[in-house]
Amino acid sequence: MSNTNQFQASNRIPLSQPELLSQDKRAVSEVLSGTQLALGPQLHAFEKQLAGYVGRQQAVAVNSGTSALHLIIRALGIGSGDEVITTPFSFVASANCILMEGATPVFVDIEPRTLCIAPEKIEAAITPKTKAILAVDVFGHPADWNRLEEVAEEHGLLLIEDSAESLGSQLNGKLCGSFGRAAIFGFYPNKQITTGEGGAVVTDDENLARLCRSMARIGSHCIVNTLASIDHDCIIEDYVHLSPGVHLAGDCRIGSHAHIGIGASVLPGCSIGPKSVIGGGAAVTCDIPGDSVAVGIPAKVVK
Ligand SMILES: Cc1ncc(COP(=O)(O)O)c(C=O)c1O
Repeated sequence: MSNTNQFQASNRIPLSQPELLSQDKRAVSEVLSGTQLALGPQLHAFEKQLAGYVGRQQAVAVNSGTSALHLIIRALGIGSGDEVITTPFSFVASANCILMEGATPVFVDIEPRTLCIAPEKIEAAITPKTKAILAVDVFGHPADWNRLEEVAEEHGLLLIEDSAESLGSQLNGKLCGSFGRAAIFGFYPNKQITTGEGGAVVTDDENLARLCRSMARIGSHCIVNTLASIDHDCIIEDYVHLSPGVHLAGDCRIGSHAHIGIGASVLPGCSIGPKSVIGGGAAVTCDIPGDSVAVGIPAKVVK
């Protein structure tokens, strides 16, 4: 290497560099040595801490910022025929999530100083099809949320905050992630904190959070068809009807008030929520809560 190249290599400032401390590695090791690698108590503690930090009522942690944004767009009912005003200066996920639901992104120019969407240019882009404004806090800089809230309110539009890049930034003492109907964070290694891959929805809207959580897992109030096979570690939410002969691989979690059909097989490590009904002839190799009912032949409980 020439002297010039050596100088350049040693003076390079990385765009991002995760700092993983020994306590972070210890925390990961604790999960790895436990029995629940996914969706365990650490996740719920993280969601609670994140919501509390941002000042939101709810947080739903998922596998990426893209998934978080996609969930919000779908949960808000944005779809075919709708237009969403957004910025052309962002990671492609911001516009992709609109397209993934069949809606149309409408790009409005950015402010040269902050690189965030310019609120004063939004009105010219509003049409009868406009349903929402999706603004991005770019590279840790908050968008102009005061102006964005005014425009959204005046035109009856939903406001969504893509704060994937801005956990911890503030605007007039309010943290990014606390603006609009719902916001997202990303936890890829180039973000303020990282979980390897990951993201989260934050919102004060309990129903929206429930819908996002439900769509991110198998969902609640759904029917799983006869003889379906559910893979290991799946989360099945409340009020689900599992038709006869369904096979649940190990470590699935089933919420409360489930109907588990006749002849189902439920492998070890699964958990079944309270007030569930388990059909006759089911082979259940995990504990059934005391207030569940086993009916029929009766259900055979193998411990
Ligand atoms: C502004 C913005 N939105 C969304 C995303 C998507 O997050 P992820 O990469 O976790 O899917 C990113 C990621 O870089 C981003 O920068």
